[in-house]
Amino acid sequence: MPEEAIKITNLKKDFRINESHPGFLGSVRNLFSRKHKIKHALDGISLEIKKGDFVGYVGENGAGKSTTIKILTGILVPTSGEARVNGLVPHENRIKNAKRIGVVFGQRTQLWWDLPVRESFDLLQAIYEAPEPAFQRNLEYLGEVLGLKDLLSVPVRKLSLGQRMRCDIAASLLHEPEILFLDEPTIGLDLLAKDSIRKFLKKINAEKQTTILLTTHDMEDIDYLCERIVILDEGKIIFDGLRDDLKRYYGRTRVVEVEFREENPPLRFENGVQIVREENRKKWISFDREKHNASEVITYIVNHAPVKDIFLHEPRVADIVKTIYEKVS
Ligand SMILES: Nc1ncnc2c1ncn2[C@@H]1O[C@H](COP(=O)(O)OP(=O)(O)O)[C@@H](O)[C@H]1O
Ligand SMILES: [Mg+2]
Repeated sequence: MPEEAIKITNLKKDFRINESHPGFLGSVRNLFSRKHKIKHALDGISLEIKKGDFVGYVGENGAGKSTTIKILTGILVPTSGEARVNGLVPHENRIKNAKRIGVVFGQRTQLWWDLPVRESFDLLQAIYEAPEPAFQRNLEYLGEVLGLKDLLSVPVRKLSLGQRMRCDIAASLLHEPEILFLDEPTIGLDLLAKDSIRKFLKKINAEKQTTILLTTHDMEDIDYLCERIVILDEGKIIFDGLRDDLKRYYGRTRVVEVEFREENPPLRFENGVQIVREENRKKWISFDREKHNASEVITYIVNHAPVKDIFLHEPRVADIVKTIYEKVS
């Protein structure tokens, strides 16, 4: 039994993109010749994920996140390199692999649109050949923690996006997979729905040691959930490490939130210290940690204006990722 849940070695995936000649004459020319371009969607990535890890897979649109997940689930065949999931090569062992992984693609459902949720679950039980007692036990557990009780008899098309996503996540876990792949699971959800999904993912990762690879645009998801972050840019991994290290090494900008007792406190900032946001008597003041230390900035503020409340913010993953991208491009 390999220790790694996922092992990716120098993985590449090229897509051939046909370029049509434009216009009427172009469409005639298309009959005789088609130009094509190669897109290196994955350009040699290597990655090891251990059992029980919760990894955030971050990247801008088109970076190659979904392509990676499609290879790991056996939907796509790599151009070169190797991907192993639980020791198996996914596209060569698609069914065997499927029984040990769960997948959620945020933009589409794996449930049957016109069927009540419960019937979709039963169909999935049959497809995965999940044994009865374990399946029932799981359904009960998932129904409880995801709050599905009142949803089971509702046809999928009548669910809200947040309800549907909860059902989709339950569906992906009914057969008790060791690994869960989530591709943009919180896309389009309101804060409340996001929050319940985040709490649930944290819980199953802790309680069941489910290995989770999560791609999301929402850096708050990553900040809250993922101890480890992998950042992908144009098919290449540009950062792979712990969230806390990311913050320590790259999170140079700190923000102090101050509530003053008066509208226009007599403060003058310079040397990179600046007000980045204002709201009535509250101001958010940012500074570079390498140039100033927090106590120096805070001392200046409280010595020069009457302060009601003051709060030092942790650097946000979202801001750090933005600066890393700016450096690379
Ligand atoms: N089936 C396909 N055919 C051609 N190009 C594709 C295909 N799937 C993805 N791509 C291209 O590969 C790149 C990576 O896509 P994808 O993995 O979906 O990115 P992400 O999920 O990070 O947004 C993009 O440039 C995308 O246009
Ligand atoms: Mg994608």
